[in-house]
Amino acid sequence: MPAAPAFSAHGAAVPAVGFGTSPMTGGMSPETVVAALAAGYRHIDTARKYGTEPAVGEAMRASGLPRGDIFLTTKVSHENLRPDDFARSVDQSLAALGVDYVDLLLVHWPNPQIPLTETMPALARAKREGLARHIGVANFNIALLDQAIALCPEPLAVLQAEYHPYLDQSKLLAAVRERGLVYVAYCPLGRGRLFGDAVLAEIAQRHGRSVAQIALRWLLQQNVASIPFSSNPQRIADNYNVFDFELGDDEMRRISALKRADGRVANPVGRVAGGWD
Ligand SMILES: NC(=O)c1ccc[n+]([C@@H]2O[C@H](COP(=O)([O-])OP(=O)(O)OC[C@H]3O[C@@H](n4cnc5c(N)ncnc54)[C@H](OP(=O)(O)O)[C@@H]3O)[C@@H](O)[C@H]2O)c1
Repeated sequence: MPAAPAFSAHGAAVPAVGFGTSPMTGGMSPETVVAALAAGYRHIDTARKYGTEPAVGEAMRASGLPRGDIFLTTKVSHENLRPDDFARSVDQSLAALGVDYVDLLLVHWPNPQIPLTETMPALARAKREGLARHIGVANFNIALLDQAIALCPEPLAVLQAEYHPYLDQSKLLAAVRERGLVYVAYCPLGRGRLFGDAVLAEIAQRHGRSVAQIALRWLLQQNVASIPFSSNPQRIADNYNVFDFELGDDEMRRISALKRADGRVANPVGRVAGGWD
């Protein structure tokens, strides 16, 4: 199986298509992650909040893959962003995963009640102690990202935020690129909302591909990494199979034009003070 492309920032090589592990309902079995690793995924995205760290750890061990072959991400929740809580959360994540480091550690959501002057040094400390090879933030808008960069003694490699054809993230993506970070798109399939789209269906039919593959390819061609989730082994494999075809410029433009004002699907209102842009 040829190695999938990766996007680089500050020494991190982030595999272009990863596997999300936040199931919409119920739990997630280790077999689901084993299926992803068997299909070729080498980037696994979890979080303390998801409750899936034990299953991810079990799957990594069951896969037989060397630890160094897997790019493993976890996150610290917004209620644990003070230094002591932060360090405790990282220790709990590593114990739950059964690993002694993660490849990427993210602040899961900003918390307006806890200043970044407390959080960013705690994040950098996890890196300096070898508990995380790389660090970043999720769900930060441009203003918060700039504060985070200014306050962090170590470089941020990744910003993770929602992105799919129904959500215009052009301003945030441009800012992330200018600052030299990798953009990782969550909900890259719009949590299933894209599947009835006529434009995506037409482009998919022309390429002999699925709508999911078209959406993920559209992200890939913008140098955006993605972390789709599926509970189904066939769809898990399908979503990873996006490296051997190309969308034309006109197709890229038509997909970008699908953006909608109400396109955001993960939207805990008010969580990002000052709005999303
Ligand atoms: N940082 C954050 O705040 C944050 C927030 C949200 C998500 N995330 C991360 O991003 C990951 C992905 O987001 P998500 O899981 O919310 O949404 P998503 O990946 O956009 O969509 C997942 C949904 O699409 C369906 N699906 C997947 N592949 C399909 C295919 N080929 N054909 C038809 N249906 C398909 C899945 O159903 P089936 O299971 O039936 O296939 C599931 O219902 C999460 O798992 C999590 O790791 C991060």
